[in-house]
Amino acid sequence: PRKLTTVKALSESPGLSSIPSIYTFLKQPYHEPVSDTEEPIPTIDFSLLTSSLPDERGYSLVTSHGVPERMMKAIIEACREFLELPEEEKRGISGKHVLDPIRFGTSFNESVDEILCWRDYVKIFQHPEFHSPNKPPSFSKRVRLVAREIIRGISESLGLEKDYIYETLNPENGLQLIAANLYPPCPQPELAMGLPPHSDHGLLTLLIQNQIGGLQVQHKGKWVNIDPIPNSFLANIGDHIEILSNGKYKSVLHRAVVNNRDVRISIAVPHGPALDAIFSPDSKLVENVGNPPAYGAMKYKEYLEFQQGTMLNGKSFLERIR
Ligand code: SIN
Ligand code: FE2
Repeated sequence: PRKLTTVKALSESPGLSSIPSIYTFLKQPYHEPVSDTEEPIPTIDFSLLTSSLPDERGYSLVTSHGVPERMMKAIIEACREFLELPEEEKRGISGKHVLDPIRFGTSFNESVDEILCWRDYVKIFQHPEFHSPNKPPSFSKRVRLVAREIIRGISESLGLEKDYIYETLNPENGLQLIAANLYPPCPQPELAMGLPPHSDHGLLTLLIQNQIGGLQVQHKGKWVNIDPIPNSFLANIGDHIEILSNGKYKSVLHRAVVNNRDVRISIAVPHGPALDAIFSPDSKLVENVGNPPAYGAMKYKEYLEFQQGTMLNGKSFLERIR
């Protein structure tokens, strides 16, 4: 495999004024004009979360979630500290396979990406087994509770029992990981991408970020900036809710752009079913809506391995099992 340097080291090269061509996404249509949100992002006030979610567009802000602000700040700082360690140290604790519990790297999948993302990352499995270079599990536990309530809301909004999705997916073994991203300043941000458009695997991703913007979601065919709102999570519907709901919910297409001034940190916390769960549209839902299943069955573990092992490209992976 190629041996790549981190983007952090690259961005610190003295006098860097342009980016190496392998980081150029220019030939791909990633830089169409971006609008700011015309409609407010639907907000789930967690303390009021009752029977249904505000709408089914696939992403919402979660406020009053009960995860202490100091804990959210501390986790961002801990991830920043880790990502700023010398490269050898990080490579030293990193696994190679996408299912290794701690994996540090650059781009998305450095062994296969044809164009490199302006991003370094660390992914750490939190559940069913907890792993960490140095942190206690309290943040992940609390975030799991937030995810559970939102998934319960989704279950009810689909006309299912509140606990149906969560319980049938075997929460004892449900996957949760932390994917922490570092996007260093980039001398030519309009040519680069932090992460190209994609949807997330799994059920629900809860995302926090430092005060530097860069996340965009696609809404009604347009890219919309999602500016950081302190002390809130962005909740993104993942591919496995789209599959389970037979397309009633759509996983949200999003991307990360970069800037030439500030380091951006984001922490995505994806929640999935158990790795050995076989996933297909739920028979109850297919009956209810009277449609044939629109997606084939696949083991979550295999989905994850394929999706994490190939170059990110929109919702191409989900399309393959349609
Ligand atoms: C992600 O899609 O996993 C991260 C997006 C972001 O950096 O906001
Ligand atoms: Fe994502």
